Amino acid sequence: MAKYTVVRKKLGLDSARYFNEEHAYFTHYLQSPDIFSLSNYDNGLLDFIESKSLDVVKEFNYSLPLKFDVPFPPPVNSDYKFIDLFAGIGGMRIAHQNAGGKCVFSSEWDKFAKITYEANFGEVPFGDITKINEKFIPEHDVLVGGFPCQPFSIAGVSKKNSLGRNHGFLDETQGTLFFDVARIIGEKRPKAFMLENVKNLKSHDKGRTLKVIKKTLEKLNYNLYIQILDGQHFVPQHRERILIIGFDKDRFDGKEEFSFPEMPKLNMVFEDILEAKPDSKYTLSDKLWIYLQNYAKKHKAKGNGFGFGLTKLNGVSRTISARYYKDGAEVLVPQAGQNPRRLTPKECAALQGYDNTKFKIPVSDNQAYKQFGNSVVVPLMEAVAKQIAKVIIK
Ligand SMILES: C[S@@+](CC[C@H](N)C(=O)[O-])C[C@H]1O[C@@H](n2cnc3c(N)ncnc32)[C@H](O)[C@@H]1O
Repeated sequence: MAKYTVVRKKLGLDSARYFNEEHAYFTHYLQSPDIFSLSNYDNGLLDFIESKSLDVVKEFNYSLPLKFDVPFPPPVNSDYKFIDLFAGIGGMRIAHQNAGGKCVFSSEWDKFAKITYEANFGEVPFGDITKINEKFIPEHDVLVGGFPCQPFSIAGVSKKNSLGRNHGFLDETQGTLFFDVARIIGEKRPKAFMLENVKNLKSHDKGRTLKVIKKTLEKLNYNLYIQILDGQHFVPQHRERILIIGFDKDRFDGKEEFSFPEMPKLNMVFEDILEAKPDSKYTLSDKLWIYLQNYAKKHKAKGNGFGFGLTKLNGVSRTISARYYKDGAEVLVPQAGQNPRRLTPKECAALQGYDNTKFKIPVSDNQAYKQFGNSVVVPLMEAVAKQIAKVIIK
């Protein structure tokens, strides 16, 4: 059986500085040759492969499926198919693979996130979802995505009305990334979807954003379950996220037996995710440490709670965010006799529940901080994914 890493090298994917849509199509084809066909796609893909060596292509055709010698290979047997939108570095993908799913399509436009994703899953995500025709996306059972939260513009809607256009339910979300989620659900009608977002989605734009989201999904005829869940039941990090789960009423008639998972008692503390000998470069400089302390004092005087978070070793940390790379202020590690330090990227991975002995981090520290800060608490998402799987596999 040919190995993915060999094919990857032959095609130069290992040294690619950035990935394009041809790379995405080809790796999707390698993962799911039953779904993606090389002959159906003429967007320069065949030129790309020919420029590498036609023999290589023949070799693939004879030896597919490949052996995916990557940390998180696609399952050989799976119970359901899912798609990974706004994929980031694949936290949702690991969760759903562990629940028995196989990913048949991924999309993520960030160049560095794609590099991390490919290194771990052997698949390059497609880019900008707003440019992807929903008909191009393969059939799937579960649509998964943590879409960025944006306000819906009322102005846009009333302008359309005044132009006398039909005011369909999707119009209200046009121009937002949620619109792209909705149009894909509308076209593909997955059995279920799992959308994840920041807790503040609930109060965003005085609750209007969530209201429009709910209305849109209900009009698509899905039965919704919405809950805020905290990652701190699985990892020593307080991280609240809103989960919006929907089941197709055309199929389940609203009678599916879904419930959110029970929240277990945390059996570890912050200290457990720390590396034994972190590099001294993670220790804050005197200048930065003094700055953070002064900044905190100033805000305390003004009555604001802002400031750094010196984490208790036997406790639970604050939420890490994409801005962690700036100064690490929200989660600092106390160190006896010296300034506190920030987490290492590997520790950030562990704090999000990734198996950091397996997960590859092929990007700079700054990019890794952004990627883990944007990601999800994997075991929490896995627990939710398993509840969804129970319903749809029946
Ligand atoms: C909150 S993060 C989701 C992270 C993911 N759940 C994970 O585990 O890593 C949202 C992601 O959406 C991506 N994104 C934003 N706009 C996009 C677009 N138009 N097309 C594709 N991806 C997009 C961002 O680059 C970011 O990685």
